[in-house]
Amino acid sequence: TKPQAMAHADEVVNLETVASRIKNGQITRVVVLTGAGISTAAGIPDFRSPSTGLYDRLAPLNLPYPEAIFHISYFSHTPEPFYAIAQARHPGNLKPTISHTFLALLAEKNLLHFVFTQNIDGLEQDAGVPVDKILWAHGNWKSQHCWKCKAGYPDDLMKKAIREGEVPYCLKPECGGAVKPDVVFFGQSLPLEFDEREKLVLEADLMLVMGTSLKVAPCSRLPRLVKEGTPRILINMERCGDFGNRIEDVCMLGSCDDGVRKFADELGWREELEALWQSA
Ligand code: APR
Repeated sequence: TKPQAMAHADEVVNLETVASRIKNGQITRVVVLTGAGISTAAGIPDFRSPSTGLYDRLAPLNLPYPEAIFHISYFSHTPEPFYAIAQARHPGNLKPTISHTFLALLAEKNLLHFVFTQNIDGLEQDAGVPVDKILWAHGNWKSQHCWKCKAGYPDDLMKKAIREGEVPYCLKPECGGAVKPDVVFFGQSLPLEFDEREKLVLEADLMLVMGTSLKVAPCSRLPRLVKEGTPRILINMERCGDFGNRIEDVCMLGSCDDGVRKFADELGWREELEALWQSA
């Protein structure tokens, strides 16, 4: 007899068939990777979009190269440019987008296995994604320390420095180092738990990648860890990484918000999603 065909081997993989596998309970462990593109609609420019991205707008700061603004070696002697743009990067009291809310809805339906975010704005958590389901791979604004002696620094003084665009300095007079938020700069290592969490990608039965150019390792490597045969959905303005190389890839090129609304329509979750977003 013909060997039992691998489940779904003959099924075309597209948004509809992935949605039906979620609805009939065959997909229950969604792993998500988000990047700056999921927060542009919330008012935080991304980094690499031509002209609107941050890296195209740093000329007045006379940096040696755009990414220097987030490099620890540059920050250690010239922290001023980082604080010149901190306010624009800092979430302040921004409302999460419907794309952030879509992740919270996945969690509410016990379908969210884990979210890796490259963003430091914390909007996934603000939208309602449980903290134990999020890894801020590049850190976030929730705390800050002196880059040199690692001494802590008060939140209220940090908020004032961000608001005024002024560099905060270490409170230890003998140190005098500049204080930086606990954001992972280029030249620094990612949180230790990144390695152990990476294994969660192997357990995924769906990978959802949203709003990232997949240009910065090690997050850019996560989609490649997904087991062969597991569907990978990209919701992004442009194709990126190795998306499109696998027959189970679904590339939804366009805005994150349009993409999640289309996905929610396929799932029959649209009203629930809009209501959850309005209530956020
Ligand atoms: N909808 C869908 N895609 C979007 C949207 C949107 N509304 N806005 C932007 N994009 C896409 C862009 O086309 C681009 O492919 O999102 C991607 C954003 O890419 P980047 O600006 O490179 O941001 P990201 O991938 O998160 O950068 C990774 O680089 O500078 C470092 O540490 C920083 O975490 C950041 C890392």
